[in-house]
Amino acid sequence: MRILFIGDVVGKTGRTAISEHLPDMVKDWSLDLVIINGENAAGGFGITRVIAEELFGAGVDVITTGNHWADQKEILAYIETEDRILRPANYPKGTPGKGANLYQTAAGSVLVVNVMGRVFMDALDDPFAAAERELSACALGEGADAIVVDVHAEATSEKMAMGHFCDGRASLVVGTHSHVPTADAQILPGGTAFQCDAGACADYDSVIGMDKAEPLQRFTRKMSSQRFTPATGPATVCGIFAQTNGKGLASRIDPVRQGGRLKQTLPEL
Ligand SMILES: [Fe+2]
Ligand SMILES: [Fe+2]
Repeated sequence: MRILFIGDVVGKTGRTAISEHLPDMVKDWSLDLVIINGENAAGGFGITRVIAEELFGAGVDVITTGNHWADQKEILAYIETEDRILRPANYPKGTPGKGANLYQTAAGSVLVVNVMGRVFMDALDDPFAAAERELSACALGEGADAIVVDVHAEATSEKMAMGHFCDGRASLVVGTHSHVPTADAQILPGGTAFQCDAGACADYDSVIGMDKAEPLQRFTRKMSSQRFTPATGPATVCGIFAQTNGKGLASRIDPVRQGGRLKQTLPEL
């Protein structure tokens, strides 16, 4: 099975890059499933129904999120009706939406799990316990033909730990939230593809996708003068291409970077 995971899409420029590049990727790479982290899709903060539909129209199958998932309040009702959007599984009981779901593709079923870290982030339920719950309820090769875990976290240590925690039980564990792609794409000893952070789909002449003036003002003067807005230059689509074998484990992982300012890297298929 061929899976593309794209990191946090930031604002209109990120969405434009998706509409520009994703349809060709789906076709040229014969993708079976496309997952994108959409927590920053609406002006950098959250996601709306209109924007989710725009992403689905461009070829996205599943949208994961993170700490910004509920920044746009309309999502609270929408997520209850739309199975293709997930929020982190380790939010308290009673939170709208769900943190994991099984999707059918032409090549088999894929369980997608979204969890959020707790290091340098808001307090939440244990993401490892949440991942354990989802992976045991729908095991690889039994309940699902492939499993993808989006670990939305700040600390690389916590994301690496999640990779090892799921090793041999998931096809791909990939980090999101820090918006910068890491250079550690690998297949772990148990067969799980892993990268600490997928990177963002954003303008990289920015501070993690946001126009750089306001973050610089806050860092240098300890004062805020306006809210953050996404940088508007051409975005780089950053993500991970992963392929699974007959057991649902990874046979390859390739970083993907296309468009914008970052040096291009594409899988050679
Ligand atoms: Fe993000
Ligand atoms: Fe985030």
